[in-house]
Amino acid sequence: MRTDTGQVFHLKNYKPTDFVVERIDLTFELDPVATLVVSRVILHRRAGVAEDAPLVLDGDELTLEGLQLDGEDLDHALFTATPDSLTIHGLPATAPFEITVTTRIAPEANTKLSGLYRTKGVYCTQCEAEGFRRITYFQDRPDVLAVYTVTVIARKDEAPLLLSNGNYLGGGNYDEGRHFATWFDPHPKPAYLFALVAGDLGVIEDSFTTQSGRQVALRIYVEHGKELRATYAMDVLKRSMRWDEEVYGREYDLDIFMIVAVSDFNMGAMENKGLNVFNDKYVLADPETATDADYANIEIIVAHEYFHNWTGNRITCRDWFQLCLKEGLTVYRDHCFAADQRSAPVKRISEIRVLKAHQFPEDAGPLAHPVRPASYREINNFYTATVYEKGSEVVGMIRTILGREAFRKGMDLYFDRHDGEAVTIEDFLACFAEVSGRDLTQFALWYSQAGTPSVSVSTVWNEATSVFSVTMEQTLAPTPGQSRKQVMHLPLAYGLILEDGGEHVGTPRSGEARDGVLHLTKRKQTFTFEGVPSRPVLSINRGFSAPVTIAMEQSAADLAHIARHDTDGVARWQALNDHATLHLVAAARFTRDGRPAPDGKELADILVATAADESLEQAFRAQALSLPAESDIAREIGSNIDPDSIRSARETVLAEVARAGRDVFGRLAEKMPEVPYSPDALSAGARALSGVALSYVCLAEGSPQRAKTVFDGADNMTVMTQALQVLAHQFPEAEETTEALATFESRFEDNPLVMDKWFAIQAMAPGAATLDRVKALMDSPHFDRQNPNRMRALIGSFTSGNPTGFNRADGAGFRLLCEEVLAIDQRNPQLAARLLTAMRSWRALEPGRQELARLALVAVSGVAELSTDVRDIVERTLAG
Ligand code: BES
Ligand code: ZN
Repeated sequence: MRTDTGQVFHLKNYKPTDFVVERIDLTFELDPVATLVVSRVILHRRAGVAEDAPLVLDGDELTLEGLQLDGEDLDHALFTATPDSLTIHGLPATAPFEITVTTRIAPEANTKLSGLYRTKGVYCTQCEAEGFRRITYFQDRPDVLAVYTVTVIARKDEAPLLLSNGNYLGGGNYDEGRHFATWFDPHPKPAYLFALVAGDLGVIEDSFTTQSGRQVALRIYVEHGKELRATYAMDVLKRSMRWDEEVYGREYDLDIFMIVAVSDFNMGAMENKGLNVFNDKYVLADPETATDADYANIEIIVAHEYFHNWTGNRITCRDWFQLCLKEGLTVYRDHCFAADQRSAPVKRISEIRVLKAHQFPEDAGPLAHPVRPASYREINNFYTATVYEKGSEVVGMIRTILGREAFRKGMDLYFDRHDGEAVTIEDFLACFAEVSGRDLTQFALWYSQAGTPSVSVSTVWNEATSVFSVTMEQTLAPTPGQSRKQVMHLPLAYGLILEDGGEHVGTPRSGEARDGVLHLTKRKQTFTFEGVPSRPVLSINRGFSAPVTIAMEQSAADLAHIARHDTDGVARWQALNDHATLHLVAAARFTRDGRPAPDGKELADILVATAADESLEQAFRAQALSLPAESDIAREIGSNIDPDSIRSARETVLAEVARAGRDVFGRLAEKMPEVPYSPDALSAGARALSGVALSYVCLAEGSPQRAKTVFDGADNMTVMTQALQVLAHQFPEAEETTEALATFESRFEDNPLVMDKWFAIQAMAPGAATLDRVKALMDSPHFDRQNPNRMRALIGSFTSGNPTGFNRADGAGFRLLCEEVLAIDQRNPQLAARLLTAMRSWRALEPGRQELARLALVAVSGVAELSTDVRDIVERTLAG
């Protein structure tokens, strides 16, 4: 394991490399325990760099087998090699030179899933962020761009398939039983985009003709026998390629585009140039084994990785501090893509839910950091909701501020100006400033200030003068390392809904406003509207135009008015959701104090009416009926959290809604979409609605019978898991539940991806008793601690999807997580660190739980042999 050096990297210390790489030729002689890697690199000293400056190459757990300069063995006095660096002295002052570095690595023994490793007998690489240095010594940083030629040699029987980035140059027999293939990628790229895959895989093939008429071969490689399950991913790939041409004018730039699905992968997928590697969970799908959510994820991830070809690959990051430059922007692009493929408001609603559920708590806790961090100890810990989701929101705000046309112009300029470069957020912003003539200096604070801004809003309506004024004040709480904050630019979309449900048009007399957006740029600002004919209800931050929290005294009646009349679907949902949240927070407080819960009739009525309203999209109704989760309520309460009272209050409210809508839900639960199954948004929406309805009606009936019938009759995985979840969560002790779980297990035991759903559903069954269930499931023959998907399905679902189970009053949940983190840390530090982030909100808990959480964290930090990854997370979590 790489021992933690405690080294901290700072954005302000950026310096270009002393040596410039021109080309790199790699040869791999693959072997499970002793792969030989020969790297020939042509470099030259950068102008102005001292003549005695050595070349320093990065390594990670490497051993050097040979080193040559221009083909001659290098004198031992001229270099120093350690497992994590190679320093070479005495290199030419100006002339280009070639160094040949030979290393030997053991893919089979590489359990970190970073660098070159094996998964189910397939050789595969993962180089982002710093995995290339686990393959060979190199200047492993994103601003070192080179043209790669890669030759892969392997035994034909073991690896009939030999892949790398770029276009296929040629190949053939090598020596006894071995063959080779050579790939050439003409586009200069950083090492993190290098990829190699070799093994025995099945394939589906297709082709795509680009806008300009070039033919591109498309291939998706999967385990033999699973080829047909990749057809949906292939369809998405073609739609993504077309979309990027139509919406951004961006064409694909190689003769071939490949995706490989592997079953051991730390992340979702990786955008290696021309050779994307995917977690098989995000490639394989058919109706019997994948849910609507799985299909939707595949759509997003295939598109996301494809879109990186321009935002990330052709234009990459200068350093890892700029990660949001590629990730935030590409998430923004995949959001827009999905909005175009599906119902835009429903898509936006789910984005808002994800942002609030994942990014807001991160921003409010000890792991808070800016969208562009200023320092890090371990870059792998910065692939966060903040960099991704908030990073995407920031791009969305640029578009809101500039408008559609200027935004596109800015993107065009960015592509034009920086193609082939490694750039910064400043370079990106400069393009938008230039095309729009706007000063984005204040806006740029979104990249450097952590924390979620809060806006308090008050309104005054003067009936006599028909003047309506809105006063807003922004605050931003301190976050780790940032005690004082500057005033930000918050673009808040708005509407004034009049008494008759119509909307008042007109911009305010005072305060900056354009195209339905109020621009809050001062700490406190008043926006005054004149000639408003009746008392309006303010709909603010429509569509979540800025990722902020709004504090506004708005009555349930006003929220209901917005929910009924707003022209914006997302705003209607926001009002409903705010209404539900207000009520649930009050209910949780009352329950905690032992007071009877507040009357929920008004909320129940509006939800039932929404459920029954056939003028609304089914997917929208499903979203409206999904009450804020226990974790959402906890976040609103903010401190001194008692998860048990939140759960019991929420269940009381659910039961009230269920009773009020029993007949409506009963009807909806029976209204299954017509067969055959199709994953499109419309039918998925229908299933989502019947799914929530099923859960309400079972609650009202107090019997598992109906869910069991649905389970038994289900002909697709979506309906099957909906029913199984109702059984396992509402009726954990029922015989029907035991039976359904057993049926599911015996039917899908050969499909680990489906068994992950079985693990996750059980792990998320609310209540203290689930902890023992989780422990028992870890001994199940279907469980495998080494596999990241299994760990996330069981441990990850339990810790982030089961507040009452994980936050058990006796601290056993925290201890379980911390033990598992330590057990996995030696093998796979990235996975361990990511799992540990589930502790990030520990300080918001009531004092008893807080102390137990602290003790569990202290126990982790007291272990001497921790990876840098876990050390970084545990120390920040305890400190913040
Ligand atoms: N570049 C990342 C994958 C990555 C991140 C690899 C960190 C290694 C270390 C990729 O583009 C990505 O962001 N994938 C996401 C899914 C995406 C849809 C947001 C993932 O893997 O979760
Ligand atoms: Zn990405």
